[in-house]
Amino acid sequence: MPEVAVEIGPHGYSVHVGRGALEILPGIVAAVAPARTVVVSSPRVWRHHGDALQRALGAEAPRALVADAEGRKSRRGLEQIHDFLLHSGVGRDGLVVAFGGGVIGDLAGFAAATYMRGVDWIGVPTTLLSMVDSSIGGKVGINHPGAKNLIGAFHQPRAVVADLALLATLPRREARSGAYEVLKCGVIADRALFDSVTHAPASLAGWPGLEAAVTAACRVKAAIVSRDEREGGLRRVLNLGHTIGHALETVTAYRRFTHGEAVGWGMIGAAWLASARGLLPDIARDEILAGVDGLGRRPPLSDLAEDEILETLARDKKARRGRVPFILPVRIGEVVVEPDVTPEEIRAALRRMGTGPRA
Ligand SMILES: NC(=O)c1ccc[n+]([C@@H]2O[C@H](COP(=O)([O-])OP(=O)(O)OC[C@H]3O[C@@H](n4cnc5c(N)ncnc54)[C@H](O)[C@@H]3O)[C@@H](O)[C@H]2O)c1
Ligand SMILES: [Zn+2]
Repeated sequence: MPEVAVEIGPHGYSVHVGRGALEILPGIVAAVAPARTVVVSSPRVWRHHGDALQRALGAEAPRALVADAEGRKSRRGLEQIHDFLLHSGVGRDGLVVAFGGGVIGDLAGFAAATYMRGVDWIGVPTTLLSMVDSSIGGKVGINHPGAKNLIGAFHQPRAVVADLALLATLPRREARSGAYEVLKCGVIADRALFDSVTHAPASLAGWPGLEAAVTAACRVKAAIVSRDEREGGLRRVLNLGHTIGHALETVTAYRRFTHGEAVGWGMIGAAWLASARGLLPDIARDEILAGVDGLGRRPPLSDLAEDEILETLARDKKARRGRVPFILPVRIGEVVVEPDVTPEEIRAALRRMGTGPRA
């Protein structure tokens, strides 16, 4: 079974990828040797796959099922898990198994980071996005009513077990959302991965290339976070597509796009910005546009006001005097950081993307 190493000092761990990977969970738990193992999941994930997890864990581990709407990645959700850990008698030598998508991983991981100043946790991601992205790198946290992901910590899991069989029940749109992040990893660092995703069928569940693609995407993220655990600089390249993507999520109050769809639009914007700067050949730009579009239809931008998107970008915490740093592709498989993209350049790219010209 493919295994991707995340090499972070004494906190290194492996991401195990494969259909049926849950089988190895007992061995991983045994190696951690916790005094008590508990599970945090969501009602929906548990309904689909609770039996499989219980079979893998053997004994009936206490579990908390918390709603996994983004709004529950909150102080309230966190409190619920802290209460559960206390009532279940989890001590310093306990283990939390986070079984769900990115919301459950971020929330349960942060609960594990903060409970008794940190207990062990294992990620068992159940969405494509959480397998290739949120479960790797140790960033955990919750939202503040005023800002997403404002409160958090770095707390690396002891292992990640990504069982592709769990994806069979994932709604199509959620699967696509993760596919944009897989494609992103291809554009950043892996041409072969990009090519394989662009040739994947619309339904990823039965796709024979899925295991190789998920493994390759995990490798890209793991290699980057291994060299830059705390976001010194290199880790920024993972934000390809996210600068415009976040702005689109913000101006639509997180209601119109899935995260991956917003990132898909953001990659299209980055491709136009890069080609306008002469950094990216037209052929590669068109391949990126076609690759993103090939994943399916995204909600449109035509009614979104450019000025509002630009204002949101200017408020980006990385912006300096109106100029915004961008990760831009120079070919498929390599990106650069451009620190000083101007509002005029962004406006031109937004026009290419098809936003509305006026507020
Ligand atoms: N920590 C990080 O580095 C990092 C990176 C990227 C994203 N994130 C966070 O991840 C979150 C998004 O995660 P996500 O995209 O996995 O979404 P999610 O956790 O919101 O899950 C999406 C939906 O799919 C359902 N679901 C999950 N697994 C399923 C399955 N196997 N079958 C059927 N339904 C299933 C969930 O119940 C939910 O309704 C955001 O909060 C984001 O901030 C964190
Ligand atoms: Zn993302």
